[in-house]
Amino acid sequence: MPDDEEDVIRRSRFSGGPARSFMSSMDDDERLFEADLAIDRAHVVMLAESGIIPDAVAGRLLQTLDTIEEQGFNELPQGEDIHAAIETAVIGVLGAEGGWLHTARSRNDEVATCIRYRLRADLLGVVETLVSIRETILLAATAERETVLPGFTHLQPAQPTTVGHWLSSYEQALARETHRAFDAYSRINRSPLGAAAFAGTTFDIDRHRTATLLGFDGIVENAMDAVSTRDVLLETASLLSSIVVVLSGVATDVTIYANRGFVELDDDFSSTSSIMPQKKNPDTMELVRACAGDVIGSYTAMVTTLKGLPRAYNRDLQRVTPHIWEAIDVTSEALSVTEGTVGTMAWDSATLEAAVGEGFTTATAVADTIVRSGVPFRTAHEIVAEMAIDGGETPDIAAIETTVARHVDAKTIDLDTAALERALDPSQSVNQLDSTGGAAPHAVEATIERAQARLDEDVAKLGAYRTDLTDAQKTLKSVVATYV
Ligand code: ARG
Repeated sequence: MPDDEEDVIRRSRFSGGPARSFMSSMDDDERLFEADLAIDRAHVVMLAESGIIPDAVAGRLLQTLDTIEEQGFNELPQGEDIHAAIETAVIGVLGAEGGWLHTARSRNDEVATCIRYRLRADLLGVVETLVSIRETILLAATAERETVLPGFTHLQPAQPTTVGHWLSSYEQALARETHRAFDAYSRINRSPLGAAAFAGTTFDIDRHRTATLLGFDGIVENAMDAVSTRDVLLETASLLSSIVVVLSGVATDVTIYANRGFVELDDDFSSTSSIMPQKKNPDTMELVRACAGDVIGSYTAMVTTLKGLPRAYNRDLQRVTPHIWEAIDVTSEALSVTEGTVGTMAWDSATLEAAVGEGFTTATAVADTIVRSGVPFRTAHEIVAEMAIDGGETPDIAAIETTVARHVDAKTIDLDTAALERALDPSQSVNQLDSTGGAAPHAVEATIERAQARLDEDVAKLGAYRTDLTDAQKTLKSVVATYV
């Protein structure tokens, strides 16, 4: 009996029993359907090109894979996983000849390749939502670059800033996440295929050929590492965690700003109460904040499962995979909803101007102005601290002059009262925070300009990666067409 028939029979011995559904990854594997078909095709082409299977057999295998694709995932026979199910379907059509499909490979390298194939597309989807939210944030930041906002540290009024400055701070953080995603992509985009179970194979295969046909940048060379490692999943889950941590910060800021009347959320991105009709709640932002829990939970589940696993393949790995899909989906949705919320909310400049005048937020600007008249910063800080001590009321010029005179000989300095007036006014004061990256509207404008240039580069890079993938798909399709 040929080996492949024996294998089919052996496998059928293990196809029943109470633990079958526990062992099956079939439901989660739907996400890998297209990936597995592409990998099967590339593998078959390589087997034929390498003279391991005859071209005519390759043609019938490839034809059958097309039929299976047309019928769709739901028509697949029951199997332990997508890989077994597709192979069973192929054998169902071609009989024993279908058994050539699994020559020189194992489900171990197959699944590892499927995961990377799907993950790279999914990660580019995340990058797409990242560049989109960054674009929206930069537009809003430009529109609100002059809108003053009380800046907080420790949630206490600290210094005046602008809404544009606040927004642009998040764009900058999300730009770093985009770059992390590109970095991760370069490590994901390597092919484990051809590693077989873990030891390589006795057949003279061409791993670089399948890698190229599938659009990978190269291979994961050591076969044992290739089937074992899920580090690129961890890296991705880590960067997704970092993204949702940023979004959770946006969510908390917006919740606080809405609570103080600084901003009103669009009706589409808020909710009301089932009993208190006057309420408008920032539910989207609260849910986004909770998404961070889900994604960090996925990361934690993955890293905990991976810790201490021996080489090479262990079935524990099967339970790692769904967590990355969950993390991808939750992060993408959180990004889109945050973009919608931030892009539609309305800032209340009157409330903001009133709020920024509370709590002597110009104290640092007054101290800086006193410094410019020839007083060391620490002395100026003490002078202003003395005025700020009782309840933080903003002092007038006379009070400043009196306090300064108590600390320094008035004859040795030249207090510029016009400059003090400017420093005391939050809107004028914020204009002076014009160091690189500062809160002043024209500093924010410059930051936004640089951010936009960086964003344009990232959009181009995303486009290039996408083109590489569609080009590889087209090439594979045309190579396959020469056999069928
Ligand atoms: N469904 C399996 C997974 O997700 C595929 C690999 C099975 N390999 C094996 N030796 N049982 O990991």
